Parts: sequence; structure tokens; C-alpha cells
Amino acid sequence: MTLGYIRGFFRKMSSSASAPLVPVGVRGMKVLDRDKFLRNIKVPILKVKEENLSKITQISKSYFLKLEDFKPVRSIEEGEDAIFKKCIFLNPEKVSQWADIAESDRTALTKLDVTESNFDNKEIQLCYENWRFEAIFKAVLPENEEGVSGFSQIGHIIHLNLRDHLLDYRPLIGQVLVDKIKTCRTVVNKCVSIDNTYRNFSMELIGGDEDYFVTVKENLCIFQFDFSKVYWNPRLGKEHERILSYLKPGDCLFDIFCGVGPFAVPTAKRKIKVFANDLNPDSFKWLNHNAKNNKVNSAFFKSFNKDGKDFICNEFKDYIISLCKGDEKLDGTIHITMNLPAMAVEFLKYFNGLIKDEDLAEKFNQEIIVYVYCFALGDDHVAIAKKMVNENIGSNITSLITDVFDVRNVSPNKEMMRVTFKLTKEILFRTSEVLSEPPLKKLCV
Ligand SMILES: C[S@@+](CC[C@H](N)C(=O)[O-])C[C@H]1O[C@@H](n2cnc3c(N)ncnc32)[C@H](O)[C@@H]1O
Repeated sequence: MTLGYIRGFFRKMSSSASAPLVPVGVRGMKVLDRDKFLRNIKVPILKVKEENLSKITQISKSYFLKLEDFKPVRSIEEGEDAIFKKCIFLNPEKVSQWADIAESDRTALTKLDVTESNFDNKEIQLCYENWRFEAIFKAVLPENEEGVSGFSQIGHIIHLNLRDHLLDYRPLIGQVLVDKIKTCRTVVNKCVSIDNTYRNFSMELIGGDEDYFVTVKENLCIFQFDFSKVYWNPRLGKEHERILSYLKPGDCLFDIFCGVGPFAVPTAKRKIKVFANDLNPDSFKWLNHNAKNNKVNSAFFKSFNKDGKDFICNEFKDYIISLCKGDEKLDGTIHITMNLPAMAVEFLKYFNGLIKDEDLAEKFNQEIIVYVYCFALGDDHVAIAKKMVNENIGSNITSLITDVFDVRNVSPNKEMMRVTFKLTKEILFRTSEVLSEPPLKKLCV
């Protein structure tokens, strides 16, 4: 033991209250052995009379020993102490002596006849059931390295993205989460980064049942799907809600990369016409299931299982032509959502000169708003996102951009951005001569 360590050790010991409340002797455990979590520990207590108990507990609440399956206020067993009927267990990390209780609280307790003489210590035995998962991970996983930081829960599934140094601990981490989180029945770990076409995760079961069928609620709709086959991100709920708030009765929505319907289903449910598309057959299946399950009126909902390019060049184009010809009627705005941040900007070029018919162009007077998502890597995320849109649509449309919104941080220096812009008829009905302008240098996405 080095001198530095000894000094640090004594400094810690001499501080008022420091007994760490974690299991001991389990560091490095790879397969869960619940019996090894038994620990005898001396904890501070207050022995009190029954009268004024609610006032006393109110004052001492912030010092309670809070553990799972553990009552901090208990009756003292008969005969153990005649005058005092109740025992309040305090947190040894906060209190090791009477003086560790704040002066104002001590004064208030004294007025209720609770003084230093009521303060004592008691040995208790804690077991696996008493420890929270945070305390277990802290005691088991490698010291001074990043632990299990942040995870998402999708219905009954907990989804982790473990660092390499934690991979050997997968069985233990999975089992502890199943044991400790009441709503969790399945734990999966992401195997590789999310880079496949359908944006679903390649995942490995590390705890609980192999059951990937989940039910979640978002924006007043129920969504059901097989999480192993489709994309769902619980962190996008707020963004879905924001877009929904922009849609008004009489509008219509084209959702090009719709997934299982978090934009499309609530929109159609509000009787706003939706054209929803996704290339993944499983997303398409669950999209239709969710529309039906949420009692969406089929007059407001059409679904497609196509590549985004085909969807733009056929369904969207045909709809615009029908509006021009008067075969379709629309009072409001056409909204287009493009949530495929890794690639969506590359689909913007299909809008450029989509309809080459000047007669139709004269008849078109509808407003179209595009919400396109992208990942911006670098310092100025707003400028990067604008640049990506300009370069991919093939002309400078900066003046048509109405908003550049930072949706969420994905990783250090990588933001998911949303660019909102007006898709004008000048872009949509651009003739081939204009298109033959020197192309802009493409940015690598
Ligand atoms: C990031 S997810 C977004 C899903 C949903 N809009 C949301 O907000 O949760 C992107 C979706 O695009 C779909 N997709 C990927 N490539 C596509 C393509 N070329 N054409 C159409 N859909 C595609 C994926 O299957 C996935 O469901």
C-alpha cells in the first residue's frame, strides 16, 4: 500500500459519514451468484417512542436507509427495549454520528424528545434482494472504467449498447436487470452499429425471455411490433409529437420512411390523409397492424412497401398530378417526413424536376413542406445540415429553409438534425434545361 493510498484512506475514514453502501467481495463476478451478496453491515439508527412518530420521520426522511425491499422505519421487537417502540434506520453513507445530522434537524428532533441518546448503531444483514442494480453493477464491474451507462426500454425489452470491457459480464448484467426492473422481461445487447438498410438492430439476448413482440404507447396510439425486425427509438417520441403539432385538419402527409407508423398512425387517426411508405416488409406489416389496431379510418390511410425513390417518383408524383388535374382535392398543406437520417438527403434529388409539364405547373398552387433528417458531424451542425440539403437537392435553397432543428445528440459531435424547407413548384416542375446547370459538388454523407 503506497503512502498516497494510506493518506487517502485515512482522509476518507476521518470524514464524518462514509461507509460505502455496496455489496463486497463480488468484484469480477461474471455469472450471477445471489448468495454472494449477503453482507452484514453496521448502520446508524434512531430509537424513538411511538408518539410524534410521523413528525420524527418527516425530519429524518432525508437520512433514511433506502434499499430495495427494506423498511427504514420498523417496530422494535417486543422486550428488546421497553421505552422505545420504533427504530429508524439511517444511511451510513450520510450519517455515522449524531453530529452528521444537520443542526436545524437536530434542533427539531430535540424538541420532539429525540437527542443524541436515541442515536445508536445496529448490525443488519443485507442480501441480493436489498441491493439496487446500480449498487450491484458498481460492486461487480471493473473499477475505474465506464459502467452500464444509460439504456433504453422499449415495452418489456431493455436495450443496451455495452462497451467491449463489459462483454464478459453480459449474463450477469442481463439477469440483474430482469431481476431488478419490474417492467423488464427481456434484455438485449446491440451487436454492431445500426447500419443495415432497415435500421433495426442486430441484437443478442443477454437476459430473460426471447420475446421481441412489444407494445408501447406514444402520442395517444398503441404501437406493436417485433423489435428484432423493425426500427423503434423511444427517444424520438417528442420529435414525433412536434411534427404532429404542425399538421392541421385539411393537410396531408407523405411519410417516406415511416417505420411502424409513429408519424403516420397518429396523423391518420386525427383524420388527416396519410400516404405511408417503408421498404422493410416487417415495418410494413406492423404499420398496417398498428393502423388497424388504432382504428384508423382507411379513407385517411394508404400504405406502401417500396423504395423511397419509387414512392416519390410514383405515388407522390401521381398525387401532385391528380391535384393539378382536379382529380384530387386538398385544402391544406402537403407535409413530407423523411426520417432516415443516414441517407434521407440523398432522396431529395428525386423532387428536383419531378414533373416536366409546364401546363400542369401553372395549375399547381399547393404549399409543400419537407422535414428531412440528417446526421451532422462537426462543429457547426446547423451549417452542415443546410449544406447537405443544398448539395443533395441540386441547387441553393437556403432561402426556402424555415428551420434547422437539433433533434438529439447521437454521440460526441454527432447530432441528429431536422431541416424544414418549402418544396416550391419551381423545384418540382423544374425543366430539363434548368437542370443542366453545372451540378453542385456533392457532400459525402
Ligand atoms: C430511422 S427509421 C424511421 C422510422 C420512423 N419514421 C420513426 O420515426 O421512428 C427509417 C426507416 O426507413 C426505412 N428505410 C430504409 N431504407 C429505405 C428506403 N430506401 N426506402 C424506404 N424506406 C426505407 C427503414 O426500414 C426504417 O423503417
